[in-house]
Amino acid sequence: MLSESENRLFGVGSLSPTAPARWLGPGLVEMTHTEMKHKAVAVIVSGLSALTLAAVGAQEERAAPTGSVWDKVYTTEQAGRGGSLFAEHCSECHGADLRTPSGPAAGPPLAGPVFMSRWRDRSLEALFEQTRQEMPLGRGGLLSDHEYIDLIAHILDVNEFGAGPTELDPNAPALSEIVIRDEHNP
Ligand code: HEC
Repeated sequence: MLSESENRLFGVGSLSPTAPARWLGPGLVEMTHTEMKHKAVAVIVSGLSALTLAAVGAQEERAAPTGSVWDKVYTTEQAGRGGSLFAEHCSECHGADLRTPSGPAAGPPLAGPVFMSRWRDRSLEALFEQTRQEMPLGRGGLLSDHEYIDLIAHILDVNEFGAGPTELDPNAPALSEIVIRDEHNP
């Protein structure tokens, strides 16, 4: 996320999070406005000195919201329950490994670089709400909130964010404070 002054500097307006682009199948991902702006910023930034880049990086760090998916926000047991639910309700379209979608209504991969490019800098609340309302495809709301949050824990676990001592809670307002970040490729 860029600070306001950086936005002015780059002239790209506000970088508020938007919904990820609709999934149009492999290789057909529409770019969201945010992604386009990120691209524009990347082009401009590539012309700047390494010193300026370091300064921008430091500012992004300070502007970061409170928590991220790297803070060990689910338990192994919870992810295990989510894994069973996933096999039953989700893997036919998203792939048992979350990375190899298949079938006539194949969904986007839910792990790896494509997932990260679609969800980076968005909150777990957004991921939870979209999943709860729309999945399984055409049958949103089929499961309970606790089952949906277990599924989110499974998705996080397959993405190797790391489990901890406390379960993710579907009712916690804190869900909106947990941001999906790509530490390997910030
Ligand atoms: C019948 C096939 C099908 C089933 C079953 C299914 N999905 Fe999906 N899923 C899709 C499709 C297609 C999309 C893309 C929808 C869109 O972009 O409008 C999608 C999108 C998603 C997304 C958003 C991904 C993104 O990057 O936008 C999540 C998360 C998700 N599914 C999770 C689940 C979970 C969890 C289950 C099981 C409860 C499930 N899906 C079951 C087909 C399916």
